[in-house]
Amino acid sequence: MTDFFRVSNLTKNFGGVVAISDVSLVVREHEILGIIGPNGAGKSTLLNIVAGFYPQTAGTVELKGERLDGLQSFERAHRRIARTFQRPMVFPNLTAQQCVASAQIGKRMPAMREALFLRRHVASDKRQRMANAAAILTRVGLLERIDALASNLSHGDQMLLQLAVAVSNEPELLLLDEPASGLNPTELEKLRVVIQGFNEEGVTIMMVEHRMELVMSLCHRIVVLNKGEQIAEGTCTEIQNNPHVIEAYLGTRKTGCA
Ligand SMILES: Nc1ncnc2c1ncn2[C@@H]1O[C@H](COP(=O)(O)OP(=O)(O)O)[C@@H](O)[C@H]1O
Ligand SMILES: [Mg+2]
Repeated sequence: MTDFFRVSNLTKNFGGVVAISDVSLVVREHEILGIIGPNGAGKSTLLNIVAGFYPQTAGTVELKGERLDGLQSFERAHRRIARTFQRPMVFPNLTAQQCVASAQIGKRMPAMREALFLRRHVASDKRQRMANAAAILTRVGLLERIDALASNLSHGDQMLLQLAVAVSNEPELLLLDEPASGLNPTELEKLRVVIQGFNEEGVTIMMVEHRMELVMSLCHRIVVLNKGEQIAEGTCTEIQNNPHVIEAYLGTRKTGCA
């Protein structure tokens, strides 16, 4: 059986810096895979390569058996890979609803014979996008802020907004880069429920995160990176009892598993 998503022998050098060194991992369909490790471990680099932000130095990335090498980020988006960023990336001068509506990839272009009715087509397409956007913002708990400019949203709400933008094209593989960074405990719990909901609906997720209460309660498996190398892979319990992980990153403090 083909793995849903596979990274094999991935290496990324930035000049003399080895950001990722010979990393191999699999994400199974409908799984939440956690990626943890200290700052500079190569976590964001891994997501950036998968999203097509820059090419790997060596190794391969495959989604449902198809090599993604050489595909631009928009082509990966068309293969329903979506991502969020460590710091919220939203259009500051658009409303929350406009941000989500404008992120949706058009379902189809109108045929030539429809060109005469193009204006009507555009209007109905816009209405549809705005309605979809409202539904997605409801899902992430931002309905009340639908008309707020993105720049006027709190940091926590901007993080939720970029998640709403990321899911606006119904991704099959969702890449989350520290989605809980800077969130207070109430916002963190809200985010946990939202991510879990998307996963239960079938979205496969690869999540980089430092907040262990989120990682340990959500992730089915966890991969640990340190200085670009993969030092461990396992369940919540296995990872927290792994001496290499304790030494490099976690220490001995334990967090409850799901
Ligand atoms: N665009 C880049 N240019 C040069 N070096 C980079 C770049 N991106 C990341 N690095 C380096 O690669 C290493 C891994 O970084 P990163 O993937 O951001 O780590 P993490 O997300 O785990 O904190 C670090 O040493 C970082 O300085
Ligand atoms: Mg990072």
